[in-house]
Amino acid sequence: MNKRVFLSPPDVGDAERQLLLDAFDSNWIAPLGPHVDAFEQEFAESVGVPYAVALSSGTAALHLGLHVLGIGRGDDVLTSTMTFAATANAITYVGATPVFVDVARRTWTMDPDLLEEELEQRARTGRRQIAAVLSVDLYGQCCDYDRIAEICGRFGVPLIEDAAEALGATHGDKSAGAFGECAAFSFNGNKIITTSGGGMLVSHRREVIDRVRHLSTQARDAAPHYQHSSIGYNYRLSNLLAAVGRGQLQSLANKVTRRRIVNRIYWRGLDAPGIEFMPEAAYGVPNCWLTCITVDPSQFEADREDIRLVLEHENIESRPLWKPMHMQPVFAPCSMRGGRVSEDLFARGLCLPSGSSLTPVEQERVMNAVLEAPARISVRAVGQKS
Ligand SMILES: Cc1ncc(COP(=O)(O)O)c(C=O)c1O
Repeated sequence: MNKRVFLSPPDVGDAERQLLLDAFDSNWIAPLGPHVDAFEQEFAESVGVPYAVALSSGTAALHLGLHVLGIGRGDDVLTSTMTFAATANAITYVGATPVFVDVARRTWTMDPDLLEEELEQRARTGRRQIAAVLSVDLYGQCCDYDRIAEICGRFGVPLIEDAAEALGATHGDKSAGAFGECAAFSFNGNKIITTSGGGMLVSHRREVIDRVRHLSTQARDAAPHYQHSSIGYNYRLSNLLAAVGRGQLQSLANKVTRRRIVNRIYWRGLDAPGIEFMPEAAYGVPNCWLTCITVDPSQFEADREDIRLVLEHENIESRPLWKPMHMQPVFAPCSMRGGRVSEDLFARGLCLPSGSSLTPVEQERVMNAVLEAPARISVRAVGQKS
């Protein structure tokens, strides 16, 4: 059996190992320490925002970002339906209700027209306005922030960025994470940089980050004894993991370049009728965290699931695009505007192995298997088509 090709495995090296050993030897084996401080500073510089706080996950960053901006019970938070569940889950953690909108076909990110429609309709009818917009930089592509920021500004609605998948992506001359009141990043094991698990909240506003730092360390007041005036959380990143994150950050530019090269090789190698790629918006440069295709079975003569099963048969991991949140049983009662684009992307979309350590030989294996799928759909019988 060929060695398994993973979708987006960790890509770590000697720098991470040395920094981790340094953290270990220093005995700062705690959710605070010099590597946490340095990681926050280096990360903020890399994104181009002044303040950052390292947390235990991207989900924790979303949760506390919403909380500190005052979003709570009775509030509606508008977000893109095309995302990982953590985006919508975090909205419910603060007692608010997600309101979903579809994505635009040309970017696969939040459709600004639908956002505008929702905010306009609420303003016109006197309905309680959306309390915050949580935009998602999907698969490493920034949203259309020229329009989204303008619309949010016009209606006085704060913007929060879920940049979990988008570290190193740009929009104009700014990086993902530089838009909105605050932005959340993830260092989960499959992300462009990883600390095995971890996250970061960044903001242009010092008070936002100071408050999150306080709440994420059990909200302990400044007193010699343990005193608490707020409900706190245990959400800080370990000093050991921050050391790994610092090493990862050193090679971020290289990792983005590698993923973009992988993406370009797929574009060239999978230039077949019926296969299309996630469009690249003209306003920015995506980090190509995952290369995603859609498959038109009437032209390619195999569907998305056929391809996935052929890849699996070759011991290659691939994954359908995110199942939209409005199609998830848990969010079925939530309101949804539009939906045809994300439903179609989910039905026909597939994420291909895209790691920064993917070798040319492995990528060749992936592309051959995809191209052979129409001739090999008999393997469907042995796979489990869902
Ligand atoms: C869009 C999006 N938001 C949030 C998260 C949550 O990040 P974490 O797994 O670090 O909690 C992820 C990834 O896991 C994600 O892809």
